[in-house]
Parts: sequence; structure tokens; C-alpha cells
Amino acid sequence: MFSSIQTYLKRNSMENLFNSKYSFDLWLRACHINLMTQIAIQMSNEDNSINKDILYVCCMHHDDGQALQYKQFGIFNNSVSHHALGLDMLDTFLTTYNVTVTPEIQILRACIYYHGRTQLAGDSLDAQTLKYVQLVSAADEIETCCLAPVGYLPRQIANDTLCIRTAALMPSKKIRSEIWDAFKKGDLLSTEDSAHSYAEHLLFEATKAIQCIKKYGEPAKSAMNMNCYAYPSAVAGFTSLFHQNMTCEDAKHATQILLDALK
Ligand SMILES: [Fe+2]
Repeated sequence: MFSSIQTYLKRNSMENLFNSKYSFDLWLRACHINLMTQIAIQMSNEDNSINKDILYVCCMHHDDGQALQYKQFGIFNNSVSHHALGLDMLDTFLTTYNVTVTPEIQILRACIYYHGRTQLAGDSLDAQTLKYVQLVSAADEIETCCLAPVGYLPRQIANDTLCIRTAALMPSKKIRSEIWDAFKKGDLLSTEDSAHSYAEHLLFEATKAIQCIKKYGEPAKSAMNMNCYAYPSAVAGFTSLFHQNMTCEDAKHATQILLDALK
């Protein structure tokens, strides 16, 4: 399995492509890939038809194109599709070395190109390939919405990346009542620029996590308890961030709403 592209997989191992020694951004991406792989493997336990070795390779390589973005632009520049970059990188290898495209390689190609946008595939994927693409997409979304925020938020808040403190629209820990109401209902839209404080921004991010928990149920709930980004769990990460950036009362309230979503 994948023996025909061992050289490719080794040369483009996740550790090589996202070498954390070089930047915090690469470390975050490496964590994302490792965590979403664990989530996908866990989710695949319910389906005996999924080959875990194939799924593992698909997960570990689904974002290869992002490493090329970073190499070319010094940032993860989404104006250039990482789906297309990743597939192009693989296809260039296949063509250069005249590799026979096996069914496993076709599954990997599909996961790289269609993850997170399965609808683009139309009817072009067979049922089994579609299962892999859907698993990679689901695990990718769960990691991105439920876990990743506790990785990037501390630096985003400390550096005021979103210029929310600079705009000084209101005290940094204040949360408007309409934002609280929307958060409690779970219909707060994640438009970062509508947050007037980092306390509000945290509620936007927590809403994304809660919406993802509602969408995927148990796999997202158990993911929230995974050790991630130097926190014992994503729940612990959110709780810590709430307490650092909200009043004590608001932090307790926000934590309780998050915990209720996990019941
Ligand atoms: Fe991803």
C-alpha cells in the first residue's frame, strides 16, 4: 500500500513540510494535522470498511499545499488554493517518476483536492473514496472549530492581531448584552470584525466550537477533551482564555454554556 510513492511520502513528511523549529505558525499547523488525524482515526472506528493506514496517510497529507503556500509567501496565503497546490505537488511526482496511480493514490488525491469542499466533486467520486474525503473533512472541521482556537487565540490576543484593542471601541473585558444573548442562543455569527472586545471575540470563537459540537455530536465532544496546544484539553484552553480576558463572572458563565453543550 502506497509502496509506489514511499519516496514522496517520506520526502514530504508532515515533520519536513511543517518543521516547527522554524516558526510558531508551522507548529500550529503541525498540531492541527496531528490532532485531526487522531480525530479521523477515532471516527473511523465505526466503519470497518475504512483502512486506517490509508486514512492516516490522507490525513497527514491533506494540507501539504499549505506548506507550499508558506514556502512561497511566508504566510498561509489562502488566495492561492492549498488544495490545488497540494494536488499539483503529488501529481508532479507521479508524472515525473511515471508512477502507476493505484486506487489508494486516487483516494489520497481526492482527499487532498476535495477535503472541506466535497460538493465540488459532484458524482466523480466512488462511494468508498467519498467516505475517506468525508472523514478527512469532518475531522478537519472539528479540529479547526473546536481545538485550533486555543492554539492561535493567545498570540492573537497578546499581539492584538485583529486590532480590536487598538480600535478601543469599549473596555477590553466588556461584552454587550446583545452579544451575550446571541451566544446563549448559539447563533452568534463568527464575523471577527464585529467583536468590539477580545472578550466578545472569544464568544464568537466559542460559538463556532458549540455549533461544530451540535453538527458532529460525540466525535466533536470527545475531541474537546483531547490534550492540545499545551492545554490538557480544549475545554481547559477555552476556560483559561475566558478567565484571562473576561470578568470572573462572565468567564464562569461562558464556561458553563460551553460545558452544557458537551453534555
Ligand atoms: Fe486541515
